[in-house]
Amino acid sequence: MDDLRQKYLSAIAGAADEAALEEIRVAALGKKGEISLKMRELGRMSPEERKVMGPKLNALKDEINSALAARRAALADAALEERLAAEWLDVTLPGRPRPQGTVHPVSQVTEEIIAIFADMGFAVAEGPQVESDWYNFDALNIPPHHPARQEFDTFYMYRAEGDERPPHVLRTHTSPVQIRAMEAHGAPIRVIAPGRVYRSDYDQTHTPMFHQVEGLAIDRDISMANLKWVLEEFCRAFFEVDHVELRFRASHFPFTEPSAEVDLRCSWKGGQLKVGEGDDWMEILGSGMVHPKVLKAAGVDPGQWQGFAFGLGIDRLAMLKYGIPDLRAFFDSDLRWLRHYGFAALDVPTLHGGLSR
Ligand code: DAH
Repeated sequence: MDDLRQKYLSAIAGAADEAALEEIRVAALGKKGEISLKMRELGRMSPEERKVMGPKLNALKDEINSALAARRAALADAALEERLAAEWLDVTLPGRPRPQGTVHPVSQVTEEIIAIFADMGFAVAEGPQVESDWYNFDALNIPPHHPARQEFDTFYMYRAEGDERPPHVLRTHTSPVQIRAMEAHGAPIRVIAPGRVYRSDYDQTHTPMFHQVEGLAIDRDISMANLKWVLEEFCRAFFEVDHVELRFRASHFPFTEPSAEVDLRCSWKGGQLKVGEGDDWMEILGSGMVHPKVLKAAGVDPGQWQGFAFGLGIDRLAMLKYGIPDLRAFFDSDLRWLRHYGFAALDVPTLHGGLSR
């Protein structure tokens, strides 16, 4: 009995893997195992012998079973140890570098606006930031000495002494792109023109450079109703809400007749902007039916063509949508601000992928 015990316990201790353990188990305790055969011999023993041998054999069987289990567990532990050692990871190594820059909220919002209007068939038009007096004012029905000129706080470019021509200006709005686009493409036309504009102004909601988007749609039968639908559609998509309500307020711009300023219904509860509900109205843009004189200045026959135009402030929309309190910080180039309010470079806004995610 002691020999058997010795033999199997040392075999178990030396088993290198699960398969070797199983072989030992079968050899000792399987149907034809050495110990199983001994158990069978018990039947042929005298009762006295059986009284001695029975418990001994049972004890041996138990001992081998627990040795097998212990060895099996030890082998599993060793395998785990080995795996942990092989899959070891140095968490103090530098991580994979993240993209360094972020997309400025103005760029993000501009892309959002372009995506929305592109979906409604508007192409993007551009014009220069240093603009002639004629495109910025005269062609838009703002002749010299017109009182509206004073409202713009214009930056004038330098002209040599004695040069009597009117100086160029840093464009005060994106409206001159209306003229340039109609000159280039005629009618019908449907464009938006995002870009930088300049006015001599500086406080919490004004910076000397800011951004506008101009919209222009000219065809044979375009009306204020089309304008209203387009703007509602835009606000729904931009603010990512199902319901919006716009209010058209009669106003005056030299380049449109009639003219309207457009307000958006909203609430400002707890400093949180909610669009489409509440008792507040927020002015978001100027608009109207393009003045016949403007069409004529751009070479489009006002007897055949008509349409709407609008101009809205991109920076203001960015502040509203993303809860950014001070406009001036937009252009301070403070890296902490840019990291906080910036967008991941690969989150390109699309209507199908979600504008702002
Ligand atoms: N150009 C105007 C401004 O900067 C905004 C504007 C108003 C543009 C009415 C338009 C318009 O096209 O129809 O204050």
